[in-house]
Amino acid sequence: MTILSDDFLWGGATAANQCEGAYQADGKGLSIVDKLPAAEERVKPLFDPGHHINETFSYYPSHQSIDMYHHYQGDIALFAEMGFKAYRFSISWPRIFPTGTEEEPNEEGLKFYDRLFDELEKYHIEPIVTLNHFDTPYALVETIGGWRDRATVIHYERYCRAVMERYKDRVKYWLTHNEINMVLHIPLIGGGLIFQDGENQNQVMYQAAHHQLVASSLVTKAAREINPAFQVGCMLASGEVYPNTCHPDDMMAAIEKNREQYFFIDVQSRGFYPSYTRKLFRELDVNIHFEPGDKELLQNYTVDFISFSYYASRLVSADPLVNQQLQSGNAFASLQNPYLEQTEWGWQIDPVGLRVTMNQIYDRYQKPLFIVENGLGAIDEVNVDGSINDDYRITYMKRHLEEMIKAVDDGVELLGYTAWGCIDLVSNSTGQMSKRYGLIYVDLDDEGNGTRARRKKKSFDWYKEVIASNGEILERGV
Ligand code: BG6
Repeated sequence: MTILSDDFLWGGATAANQCEGAYQADGKGLSIVDKLPAAEERVKPLFDPGHHINETFSYYPSHQSIDMYHHYQGDIALFAEMGFKAYRFSISWPRIFPTGTEEEPNEEGLKFYDRLFDELEKYHIEPIVTLNHFDTPYALVETIGGWRDRATVIHYERYCRAVMERYKDRVKYWLTHNEINMVLHIPLIGGGLIFQDGENQNQVMYQAAHHQLVASSLVTKAAREINPAFQVGCMLASGEVYPNTCHPDDMMAAIEKNREQYFFIDVQSRGFYPSYTRKLFRELDVNIHFEPGDKELLQNYTVDFISFSYYASRLVSADPLVNQQLQSGNAFASLQNPYLEQTEWGWQIDPVGLRVTMNQIYDRYQKPLFIVENGLGAIDEVNVDGSINDDYRITYMKRHLEEMIKAVDDGVELLGYTAWGCIDLVSNSTGQMSKRYGLIYVDLDDEGNGTRARRKKKSFDWYKEVIASNGEILERGV
């Protein structure tokens, strides 16, 4: 008997814009990410798109990426060899609705996903489908400003309905928006937002967030109509925020910082805007425009489960002087926690933080959880004999999975765990290939050179054993 249930969904996760490539194949339109370059060049258009998004760059990593569009059969065979029970991937919105505004879906785009589902069914791998993983069609960004415009809700609903109708007998688990809170941290990819000089950015971000929340409820409504057995989940970029000291003011600062992320799930899971938003919106000078019927939609169509990514915890202080030390290793700024190590990219490593986060989320919502992203971005070396000894990745995953199992033992209901970037893919924040998460190596560098050949890392065999034992080898401390 293991602590995890027999039907625990072990697997891996990817996103279309980071692995498919084939960015214009079979009628696909451009996504926002297709406009982004790699490495240092990426920072300007990502964080200051108003001035840089239409610059010409020398290399766009999403255009070919690891070309999973043409390698999916071999890749899924490798996932099956590892024993995956589930594979989380996203459907590319602009592959199905190239400009976002078409009346009918692009049949050639759908045919690609038909073939992908065929392959997954061959190996009895459960698909976990993200409907929007940072993939707003670029044409919608250019013409109406992405999610700042209410019309995007309608375009998104039409796309989701088309996909859910097509796959109503092939998919059970759907996620509406990847890391919905990212609209506040990387607004370009989170919401297709480009700010105009001098405007109240908080107003734009929270109104776009409202549109995404309403869209999520509309899609949940559609899901209930199309197949009542569908399970719809939200998706949060999680990571508990700790107080810097036990000073009560720091504790209050941590509560407020945590609310910044939980706001989204409070609405998606409980069905209404939490009372703390009154003060928050007053302070930020934000005034959300609700259309008639929005309140009822949010209330009536809440999610069935809570999925989330977890990479790190965070640390805040109430003292502005201390907060001058805030570091932005990833999309979230944090003080440095002296008890934690960091990755090569400055992300703090906190396995116990996963247990803390799981307990907090479960206590707050009492709905099943799903860890749909977790992993270590690191530089891997290929040895002369072709082996890749990524012991650091095994250590990272082992420590996190041990804490995950403890959280389940604490009483948290958990549907599954999908390791992020189970096959090496393009990094979202940096556009690099060298920031690798995979259990499967892909021969491709930061400039697009390489054969794209796949190779198993040491972690491949280790994860296979973890899955085969349903986590029991971790319980035994192996
Ligand atoms: C999450 C995203 O934020 O973190 C993924 O959902 C992303 O798209 C992952 O790839 C890891 O981040 P990065 O920037 O290292 O690729």
